[in-house]
Amino acid sequence: MKEKIEHLEKLKKKALKGGGEDKIKVQHEKGKLTARERVELLVDKGSFDELDMLVTHRTNNFGLNDNKILGDGVITGFARINERPVAVYSQDFTVFGGSLSEAHAEKICKLMDMSMKMGIPVIGLNDSGGARIQEGVVSLGGYADIFLRNTLASGVIPQISAILGPCAGGAVYSPAITDFIVMAKNTSHMFVTGPNVVKTVTHENVSFEELGGAITHSTKSGVAHFAFDNEIEVLECIRKLVDYIPLNWKDQPPIKEFNFDQDFSIPELDSIIPENPNKPYDMKSIIHHLVDNGEFLEIHENFAENLIVGFARISGLSIGIVANQPSVLAGVLDINASIKGARFIRFCDAFNIPLLVLEDVPGFMPGTEQEWNGIIRNGAKLLFAFCEATVPKVTVITRKAYGGAYDVMNSKHIRGDFNFAWPSAEIAVMGPKGAVEIIFNKEIKKAKNPEKELEKKLAEYIEKFANPYIAAERGYVDDVIVPSATRTKLINAFQLLRSKVDANPKKKHNTMPV
Ligand code: HXC
Repeated sequence: MKEKIEHLEKLKKKALKGGGEDKIKVQHEKGKLTARERVELLVDKGSFDELDMLVTHRTNNFGLNDNKILGDGVITGFARINERPVAVYSQDFTVFGGSLSEAHAEKICKLMDMSMKMGIPVIGLNDSGGARIQEGVVSLGGYADIFLRNTLASGVIPQISAILGPCAGGAVYSPAITDFIVMAKNTSHMFVTGPNVVKTVTHENVSFEELGGAITHSTKSGVAHFAFDNEIEVLECIRKLVDYIPLNWKDQPPIKEFNFDQDFSIPELDSIIPENPNKPYDMKSIIHHLVDNGEFLEIHENFAENLIVGFARISGLSIGIVANQPSVLAGVLDINASIKGARFIRFCDAFNIPLLVLEDVPGFMPGTEQEWNGIIRNGAKLLFAFCEATVPKVTVITRKAYGGAYDVMNSKHIRGDFNFAWPSAEIAVMGPKGAVEIIFNKEIKKAKNPEKELEKKLAEYIEKFANPYIAAERGYVDDVIVPSATRTKLINAFQLLRSKVDANPKKKHNTMPV
């Protein structure tokens, strides 16, 4: 037995080395960690239990029969993050450039199948040259097997992808189907076709980083939800993210201990809205006041900044926040903001995370660029996502709630559970100037002094409509509240809503305008 154990230990020691010391050195020189170092930093110390360490590829083409490396370029297994279980795979670039062979794909699929049965999140650390060229179509089949599992797992278990090296061609579509993508600046790239192909086809000169780096995808394309300066921050972000989300769709998000015996009033909020309704303010400062310990994990921080989304806690309960940002484009809803919001809302709804909406929105963005690119079908996504969500939904209107955007931003009409307005709220079909110019157009033109008449009508309109009281008279808001009392109201609302039950009609699936 002793010899047998020694043999096993020797094998495992060999597997731990991946592609060998020289390749590990090259990996480090590129500013990248190895696949194993990443797993160690991601999960609770000593909690990783590896599977399939002894798997090898089955190819004889191109002399590969003489070159079999234990593990075949991907490390898979189960571990814990803050004492909760997760599944992890980590591609090993030191082994055939982390390329995906039949065996490599099978390891990932096995991990996903087991995770689906157990109902635990899957975290993929991607660093791969793509399909293993020597295996041809078998490798493409392996990718398709993963895509299918990503899709079937969507909404069942959370899926998180870190991109920590190349991720090109069809390979990008596995992370793209998952719920969150986290990238490292300068060392990770995602693109369907690389700079050389781009040059041949479109004659554009573009660098790897510009075409598909972390900054590009976290600002321009919205493909990445987070971008960080280094891999350590990427892995730290994933740990934080996991802390807000449940293990699966039947589970509840983790609850943190909370002391209810405190004064929750926030006097600063009573003076946070500027006197001038057209003056911007930073909605994030309101968020920080309202949530536990001021902690807010913002998602898509640098993409469509006119809408803020992210996770926080209120009285220990995990919640998703969707908030207009008046300091960027006056908080208007455009195509990117709508898509960003819709995706986040659907994630929260799928995984039992209640939603808090902070509303200050002048409407949807006008213009040919928006219309021609489909603000109608894209704005509909945000509306659809709010309408179909059955998780607890609470809205606070801090200032503007105009037009269709009033309906869309989780109004009472689309199943908002508690809808509050601050006294500064303006709830109407449109802003005073636009409204007055339409309904009093003739009177203003006919008047002896049109400018004075416009001012008079504006004052009339503002007094009549630019307030929350008509909505309150009809019960369209449940209460007009003093801003300083908002945190107390939210704590009460979200605690009450813990027992909320709501459902949508039975169907195969909806036909959301994707
Ligand atoms: C087999 C590969 C490989 C691959 C890299 N390697 N990519 N082996 N299949 N796809 C190997 C290299 O031969 C090399 O082996 C080692 O990994 C490291 O690669 P280098 O080129 O030395 O590294 P680097 O200079 O950092 O460049 C990394 C790279 C480049 C940018 C990823 O290797 C590259 O362009 N690879 C090919 C990428 C690609 O076209 N893949 C197919 C995409 S299509 P040695 O033994 O010399 O160290 C695809 C389809 C998916 O993936 C479809 C799904 C539907």
